[in-house]
This record gives sequence, C-alpha cells and structure tokens, in this order.
Amino acid sequence: MNDDIKPITIRSFQKYKENKEKITMLTAYDYSTAKFIDECQTDSILVGDSVGMTVLGYENTINVTVEDMITFTRAVAKGVKRALVIADLPFLSYHISKEQTTINAGKLIQAGAKAVKLEGASDFILDEVNHLTHSGINVVGHLGFTPQYINTIGGYYIQGKTYENTLNMLKLAKRLEDNGAFSIVLEMVPTESAKYISENLSIPTIGIGAGNYCDGQVLVIDDIIGKFAGSIPKPKFVKQYANIKDVIKNAVTQYNYEVKNNLFPEKENMFNLTEEERDKLYASTK
Ligand code: KIV
Repeated sequence: MNDDIKPITIRSFQKYKENKEKITMLTAYDYSTAKFIDECQTDSILVGDSVGMTVLGYENTINVTVEDMITFTRAVAKGVKRALVIADLPFLSYHISKEQTTINAGKLIQAGAKAVKLEGASDFILDEVNHLTHSGINVVGHLGFTPQYINTIGGYYIQGKTYENTLNMLKLAKRLEDNGAFSIVLEMVPTESAKYISENLSIPTIGIGAGNYCDGQVLVIDDIIGKFAGSIPKPKFVKQYANIKDVIKNAVTQYNYEVKNNLFPEKENMFNLTEEERDKLYASTK
C-alpha cells in the first residue's frame, strides 16, 4: 500500500457528517473502473447488486447471487487503494437465518469489501444488523425505495411522501442506527423527508434520488457515464456527465471499417522479421 494514501474508513464517514462535508459514492463492478473512480478521490465505492442490470443484463436485481457479488467485489477491491468498498448482500442472502447471513456477509468481506449493505429494517433484519456489527462486519442500511422488494412494491415508486411515512422511515432509520449500521442509503425519497431524516440521525445518510440535504450522494457509474443499455428509462435523479456509449460505438464502427478495408493493423501495430530473416524464409519455401 502507498504510504501517502489514507484509506477511508467508517470513522471517516462519521467525521464527514460531523464536519458537514459531503460523502461521494459511486458504484463499480470491475477492476479498471474501480481504479479510475478511486483515483478521482471518490470516498466510497459500492459494488451494488445493480450489477444485475448494468453488467449481467437482467431486468432487476432479483437474480443476482452471492457468488456473483463475490466475483465483482474481488475485482473492485483489487483496483481500490483509498475508497471504502461496500458490497451489496443480494436478494434472499440475509433473510433465511442469522447463520446464513453471517456466512454470506463474511464471504463478501473476505472478497475485499470493508462493509456490506442490506435493504429494509424489519425486526429480523435489525437483529441481523446487530449480529453482523458484533461479528466485526460493518453494515450500511438501505431505506426508501428498496429494489430487492420490487415485486412487493409493484414498481419504481417514491417512498416517504407523507408525514406519517416520513416519521416511520425515520423510526426505522434510528433502529438501524441503534443496531449498529454506520450509514444509511435513502433511495427515491422527497428532499424534505430525506432532510428531516438526515437531521435526526447521528450516522450519515447517502441519497440517491433523495435531494441535496443527505450527507452524501451515490449514483450508478453506468448512469453517469452514459453506458447503460437496459430497458428502464433514465430516472429523474440521474445526471449524465459523459456519453461513453457513443465513444464505444464510434470506436467499434471505425475498427470494423478499418479491418474490412485492410487499414488495420498498421505498420506500428505489427511485429516484423528482419529483412534477412524474411529473405531466408521465402528462399526456403521456393
Ligand atoms: O445496487 C445499487 O447500485 C444500489 C444503489 C442504487 C444505491 O443499491
């Protein structure tokens, strides 16, 4: 490890909250992207189960497995020196028993994550958060729109739209905090509700579609660089900073053209024999 690099920890998250400094988080699923994101001083990298849509071509996160998450977490962790790597526990990997949850979370930590994220805050899940944190596994909660519950929610709906819903979400968030979660992702929550929740928690909130008062922000890397090829239209909360899809398509179109027309490879892309070796070769086949 380079001595100049001070890795971000869960204590850094807490300090950021206390100092009112925003936390930056992006998803990543592979070595090189994680390395680039880390080199830009991003505070945290989430190996999200959004990998199901961005990399594996699924419609949602439901089909992502623990084995998938281990592979992608390992690749990301290898590319990161500074950012706090968090890995999503996928669908049903933390709902069966405390024992299974601990084994699955442990696999993600052994793959290189420094924390795991799970969705919801039922009594069962709160108990698991408590058990994980007492086992030395850092936990991030996830409230508001929780993608693993897409079939029970019934669609991509904003959560916490009323006073009662907001108070209930705050109650759940506080219970996550009391049970050891060190941060909570709030997804698709009105700005004012997310502000109220953030102001009433000691741990930092990370918003995605939750306005500008959260303690930090997270977005899916494919969305900000314009690489997403899935069928879901770009959500309102996404800001696209680049158009990688066009960059890839232009490069590939040019490559195809040059191969078809024998314009590639060029001299600098080839290995050549010396003239003497070449002459010997042709003389030998005469
Ligand atoms: O999987 C993911 O990318 C996430 C973010 C949307 C927070 O959970």
